[in-house]
Amino acid sequence: MKLSIINGSPRGASGNTEKLLEHFINGFSETAGNSTEKFYLIKERPDFEKLKGVFLDAEILMIAFPLYVDAMPGSVKEFFESLEPLKNKRPDLRLMFVIQNGFPETYHNRFVERYCEKLAKRLGCIYEGSICKGGCEGLTVQPPQLVEKVFSGFHNVGKSFGETGKLSPEVLSKLARPEHLTPENMKLVIPMVNNFLWDGLLNKNGAMDKKFDKPFE
Ligand SMILES: Cc1cc2nc3c(=O)[nH]c(=O)nc-3n(C[C@H](O)[C@H](O)[C@H](O)COP(=O)(O)O)c2cc1C
Repeated sequence: MKLSIINGSPRGASGNTEKLLEHFINGFSETAGNSTEKFYLIKERPDFEKLKGVFLDAEILMIAFPLYVDAMPGSVKEFFESLEPLKNKRPDLRLMFVIQNGFPETYHNRFVERYCEKLAKRLGCIYEGSICKGGCEGLTVQPPQLVEKVFSGFHNVGKSFGETGKLSPEVLSKLARPEHLTPENMKLVIPMVNNFLWDGLLNKNGAMDKKFDKPFE
């Protein structure tokens, strides 16, 4: 199997999407004969000519991106819209997506997942499925055991897809845990995120005194 991958993160090769893809690709490549090629969407703006060529030639195309403000990044939407002239030109193309987000609940991605399924169908392609995962904010600052769980989850999905050519609903739902946080968990997680992540960034930028500013009020 040959898998073509478009990393749609505005952060390109330095973002979290890239780290997750590395682990997926390692798992996928464990099956002999499998190969991958990878492209960076942000480098191909604004005409996306190279990526349109990938769309026209690929056997299986995986488009991976983060959730920005509860939706796909603008550059990803721009790319999707640029594919309109290619509608119905690839009825044999298998399209799949990776959608990952910062907040710990995977559920936040489910609305964009529905968009992706509709998009694949409207482009006249085969919708192969979406790999959704929450809790991907700050993979470099999260405790190693949490990060390791996310990475090994992506490795397992890649390995399973590499072996079967299908996204197994069981493997996907295991990766997606937790789909929702309980109110009790929320009480623990929110202060942790505030203390470690946001306060750390505010401190680093000498902006702690601006924490409760309301510039648009
Ligand atoms: C501008 C911006 C908006 C974001 N909005 C959301 C959001 O609405 N929900 C969420 O769960 N995470 C949000 N995040 C967090 C990202 O989804 C998360 O950090 C992701 O792993 C980033 O991947 P990347 O490094 O490949 O861009 C946002 C991050 C940025 C930079």
